[in-house]
Amino acid sequence: MNMSAEVKARSPGRVNLIGDHTDYTGGMVLPMAIDRYTTITAKPLEAAIHLTSEDQPDKLNCELPIVEPASTVPAWGRYVTGVAHLLQVTRGLSGSVSTTLPLGGGLSSSAALELSTALMLRLINELPNLTSLELAQLCRRAEHLATGVPCGIMDQLACASGVAGSALLIDCHSLLVSPIEIPHDVNIYVQFVAHRQLASSAYSDRVAQCAQAEQHIGPLRLAEVGSVRNIADDILRRRALHVVSENDRVRRATVALALQDMATFGLLMNESHQSLRDNFEVSTPQMDEAVRNAQQTPGVFGARMTGGGFGGCIVIVADATANVHSIEGAMLVKPVGAAEVI
Ligand code: GLA
Repeated sequence: MNMSAEVKARSPGRVNLIGDHTDYTGGMVLPMAIDRYTTITAKPLEAAIHLTSEDQPDKLNCELPIVEPASTVPAWGRYVTGVAHLLQVTRGLSGSVSTTLPLGGGLSSSAALELSTALMLRLINELPNLTSLELAQLCRRAEHLATGVPCGIMDQLACASGVAGSALLIDCHSLLVSPIEIPHDVNIYVQFVAHRQLASSAYSDRVAQCAQAEQHIGPLRLAEVGSVRNIADDILRRRALHVVSENDRVRRATVALALQDMATFGLLMNESHQSLRDNFEVSTPQMDEAVRNAQQTPGVFGARMTGGGFGGCIVIVADATANVHSIEGAMLVKPVGAAEVI
């Protein structure tokens, strides 16, 4: 490629409508890519990456190839060097990154940075095309390298396979993605509640607890609520109960959405929040309060925390006529297409 040409790649973030803490046990999720983006604008550069960020004071300056992505400074650069390491690239870039996603807000700003980096480096290094799934899998591994957190595939796959106007039903075992249209008169809002706290260690604990529960009753994605009752340990039983019931809620919510039965969809969102709060214990009093407030707003079908929890955002699904102005900072988001070179 022309080494003096400037290129741009951008990736949307995502909001998860229902199905949290199910992806890493191969369960069901229903996210959508949203019209908030992380964009990299850069020129090719031999053997180095130079990136400035509009939102972070420190620049990323590193030489290629990358050997130890986890030791990159500044820390935000680890998502970039994680991808560069996995792609084994020798040609880098010089430019800037900007985002309209809140950082650390649970809307997958890190997945969006990984995806835009991967698209950019692939183009600059003239590497073969990757499918959305391959791209998502690579970026998920980059996230593991960058943070040490054993996240599932939902965020990267949602941002890599967005479809305008649709939510995405993802079976995290078969990795099949099915777009489900969102009715035109339904509005989706996110409300930022607080920056996430202690999210990485608590997340890893939950992943480990699910794996332990599986030693008692086999894969959670195949388990029935009846068998969950056989788990003697109270914590493991509640974790498993969340996952098994959440998978069921995602399936029922998908049917409701396809039938445009938003009342049922909303009730399932509310139940999902309750289960994340009481059984999975990943909500916070502040998120509970925001969810309660949204649920009581006329015209709102349902509301719940979204993403990993311990802060971040809540998601609200409402009738187009709902009085969401009374919900402070509620931000309307639209379902959009996937990460791309532009
Ligand atoms: C984070 C992870 C995802 C998923 C959610 C919870 O966003 O990156 O893989 O596990 O938490 O649903």
